[in-house]
Amino acid sequence: MFNIALDGPGGAGKSTVAKAIAKELGFIYVDTGALYRAIGLYSLRKAVDTRDISGVIGLLDEIDVNFTYVDGEQRVMLNGEDVSTDIRLPEVSMAASNVSAIPEVRAFLLDLQRKIASEKDCLMDGRDIGTVILPNAQLKIFLTASAEVRAKRRYDELLAKGQKVDYDEILKDLNERDYQDSHREIAPLKQADDAVYLDTSDLTFEEVMKRIIDLYEERK
Ligand code: DC
Repeated sequence: MFNIALDGPGGAGKSTVAKAIAKELGFIYVDTGALYRAIGLYSLRKAVDTRDISGVIGLLDEIDVNFTYVDGEQRVMLNGEDVSTDIRLPEVSMAASNVSAIPEVRAFLLDLQRKIASEKDCLMDGRDIGTVILPNAQLKIFLTASAEVRAKRRYDELLAKGQKVDYDEILKDLNERDYQDSHREIAPLKQADDAVYLDTSDLTFEEVMKRIIDLYEERK
């Protein structure tokens, strides 16, 4: 199997790029953030504070989270319900970041991620794919961009969806979540030693695509 590990902070454009590349290479695209989001969403629904470590751990027994693929598109199933839309609600982002700092939650999701990667050529995106989940991935990329560029991209994306948005608030939320994801004890967001660093602040979507496809061609 060929595994591509794509890590980086929120809003770096990982999912857009990852989807397009997976399609081009005939790989499946695995968005691991969706798993943490599903657990964050479940905690919110059960009114369990996502910073309450034992409270969240207590819910894991009730949770079955999985992926299905519909027309090649990843859907996230939470206890049999397709929650792919609900996990994108703004309040779920911080909830996901909170639960993702809990070691038991990370352990709970580990096997599923490794199993998928062992069965299929895939491009997996997240925070710890190159460092923890798939240390032997044939290609690792750390994709980032300045906080301002990332906030602007998220702003444009939400605006295009017709949502009411405030740039400063988005920038503040992104910074807060990056700080939390990079400073947690377990599997923090960080570049793997053997990952290729790619700053996309001044690159177009096509340029980013080409860089990654070229790297894949070199390694395969
Ligand atoms: O990629 P995303 O923004 O959907 O991820 C939501 C949160 O999940 C993110 O703030 C941190 C956490 N996460 C993680 O800890 N490890 C991953 N591999 C993916 C996401």
